[in-house]
Amino acid sequence: MTEFDAATLDWQLQYKLLIGSVTPRPIALVTTLGSRGPNAAPFSFFNGVGTDPAMLMFSVGAREGGAKDTIANILEIPEFVVHIVSDAIKEKMNVCAIDYPRGVNEIAEAGFTALASKKVRPPRIAEAPVAFECRLLQRLELGRAPYHVVIGEVVYYHFHEGIVDERFHVDVGKINPIGRLAGRGGYTRITDRFEMARLPVPGGR
Ligand SMILES: Cc1cc2nc3c(=O)[nH]c(=O)nc-3n(C[C@H](O)[C@H](O)[C@H](O)COP(=O)(O)O)c2cc1C
Repeated sequence: MTEFDAATLDWQLQYKLLIGSVTPRPIALVTTLGSRGPNAAPFSFFNGVGTDPAMLMFSVGAREGGAKDTIANILEIPEFVVHIVSDAIKEKMNVCAIDYPRGVNEIAEAGFTALASKKVRPPRIAEAPVAFECRLLQRLELGRAPYHVVIGEVVYYHFHEGIVDERFHVDVGKINPIGRLAGRGGYTRITDRFEMARLPVPGGR
């Protein structure tokens, strides 16, 4: 085994260990709106956290000199849209990750099409296969940086045609999401899928 005591490592080394191991991570492309206009940025510290109500979380790190625009906007308008990043929109997503000054509209910079959302004020991105309109439930400040863990309740769902069937089954092949691996440019696709049935309780209890 290779072992480390966290108390002996600085945060940069632990960042490498964490993001290199917690993989693949789904990627949320999050749109927000503030007094300086709309904003879009990707976050791979992202997941669903519960379904009654449906809840999503993503975690935003610190930026030198203040909060990232996503957090600054959520503090002004506690609403956002989480989009799933598909293979088809990966390059545009990457443009949204550029550290533009506040007030730059990454949706336009990336060449995405902004559409009005149904129940929240931030716009949604037409090209994303799935979009979850969310209202802020809770924002936690964690750690020394700090990280802002944003938890939202899904209030409206958008799927491109053909992704959801009449039984509400989602065809992930049609979403074709990408996942984040470690390093500056590591990503993966879902091209090697398999199924594994849940096991019954031994003895039929
Ligand atoms: C695939 C990908 C995943 C990312 N995940 C995160 C993340 O989980 N947390 C974070 O703070 N930044 C993450 N970033 C960096 C932000 O997207 C970047 O700092 C962005 O400029 C923030 O934008 P904003 O200031 O408009 O909110 C990620 C970047 C990429 C390309």
